[in-house]
Amino acid sequence: MNKSYESDIRVEGDTVVKTYRPVYFKMNEDFDRHGEQYWYSRLRSDFFLAPLQIEENFIVLPRCKRSLGTPYYPKFSMGAKKDTVSWLKSLYEELKILGVCHHDIHPANIMLTKNGIKLIDLSWMTHNTEKKKLEPLMNLGYSTNDRRALAKIQRQVFYGKNKF
Ligand SMILES: Nc1ncnc2c1ncn2[C@@H]1O[C@H](COP(=O)(O)OP(=O)(O)OP(=O)(O)O)[C@@H](O)[C@H]1O
Ligand SMILES: [Mg+2]
Repeated sequence: MNKSYESDIRVEGDTVVKTYRPVYFKMNEDFDRHGEQYWYSRLRSDFFLAPLQIEENFIVLPRCKRSLGTPYYPKFSMGAKKDTVSWLKSLYEELKILGVCHHDIHPANIMLTKNGIKLIDLSWMTHNTEKKKLEPLMNLGYSTNDRRALAKIQRQVFYGKNKF
């Protein structure tokens, strides 16, 4: 389904299985990352897509129909634009309340589901007190700073930039 460096994403019926490659565990060590399972098993928030199963080398997520940016932003009505921008603003507040930084916010990591908008991909998440090197992170042109990445996405959703 998806070519990725650190993991293998496989659709199984209504679920998506994300299996971590050895490089994921190596990056956790090299960059002193907690890893995605750590966060998914600790955080309880409506803003994140909740896994159905969390294991040492894979997680199972409910399958979402699409993300905010694969390959184009959906054509939003004015109402949907306002709802999406308001969700993006609330997400920033939620991250502050939870005391975390995501560091990899971009449209392909934001899923549109029947239960609302959900953030995925917690590989680079940190406590907001942690100072981390995030060198290998490319982020598809979005900042590793959550506030800046969210501001860019808000502008793109609102002003209708199609390609991200
Ligand atoms: N539950 C899901 N339903 C549908 N598509 C998904 C789901 N989870 C992931 N995807 C798709 O697969 C892509 C990659 O998943 P994800 O962001 O978790 O891994 P990644 O970017 O490869 O992360 P990493 O950098 O940790 O390897 C997402 O951008 C999304 O398009
Ligand atoms: Mg991703």
